[in-house]
Amino acid sequence: MANRKDFLSLDGKVAVITGGASGIGLATVKKLGDFGAKVAMVDVNEKEGKRLEEELNKEGLEVKFYKCDVTSNLECKDLAENVQKDFGRIDILFNNAGVARRKSVVDLEEKEWDIVVDVTLKGAYLMSKYIIPIMAEGGGGSIINTGSGWGLKGGDDAAAYCAAKGGIVNLTRAMAIDHGKDNIRVNSVNPGDTDTPLLRDEGRQLGFNEEAFLKDSAKGRPLERLGTPEDIANSVLFFASGLSEWITGAALVVDGGGIA
Ligand SMILES: NC(=O)c1ccc[n+]([C@@H]2O[C@H](COP(=O)([O-])OP(=O)(O)OC[C@H]3O[C@@H](n4cnc5c(N)ncnc54)[C@H](O)[C@@H]3O)[C@@H](O)[C@H]2O)c1
Repeated sequence: MANRKDFLSLDGKVAVITGGASGIGLATVKKLGDFGAKVAMVDVNEKEGKRLEEELNKEGLEVKFYKCDVTSNLECKDLAENVQKDFGRIDILFNNAGVARRKSVVDLEEKEWDIVVDVTLKGAYLMSKYIIPIMAEGGGGSIINTGSGWGLKGGDDAAAYCAAKGGIVNLTRAMAIDHGKDNIRVNSVNPGDTDTPLLRDEGRQLGFNEEAFLKDSAKGRPLERLGTPEDIANSVLFFASGLSEWITGAALVVDGGGIA
């Protein structure tokens, strides 16, 4: 009989996590590191990334920070090459960096559309473009893309964000079809409102009082609370681990029942 722990163990695996210096990404750096992975924490926020690298290494996790803007073709290419050079392989990719601008198409400036779609959708394409060949060379792997409940249904005053997240959900399916032959699984996790700096910033963009906005975001959910970054990290661990070996192309909603 298989050892129960083996299914969740990430010992010997190397994970790349974008948007790793905050919120859901940071919780996932800790979670995958805790389960044995060596983690490349990727973010544009160099100051925080370096501080966290030091802190997490002191806690015994093998985490290395890489400054990389996921909207840059060149930086994504360099990142993939550098992680392969440093760790020898890449088994897990969590495409998680994302930004939100809470505006309708009428109010969105073109540059706001571009930043949301470039970080949230194009970044997943670019990072996957350079990491998939490395994963395939190593015998396969697992890619997890962060979608959103608003990738599966629409939301108010978030036109570019909804477009980018809808794109993530279907990009995930397309990649699952193309790369199954390389033993690469591709799935999306689709969080509902989760207490992170991004959610709090959305409240500010809409002109709400922060605490009232958070309370309101939790309302109406069957499980009656906001998500925590760790709630989402747990679902990423599932897709990164052997427990999901025959799952690819799936869109998992992790939202306390919000869009049930
Ligand atoms: N928090 C929520 O309620 C919620 C709900 C659904 C989906 N999501 C998605 O989860 C993901 C993580 O969001 P979060 O809430 O943890 O946000 P967050 O703001 O806490 O973290 C996002 C991180 O991405 C980094 N980042 C931004 N632009 C980047 C770029 N160009 N290149 C590299 N890194 C960049 C930021 O520096 C930050 O560290 C996003 O894709 C977001 O859309 C969040």
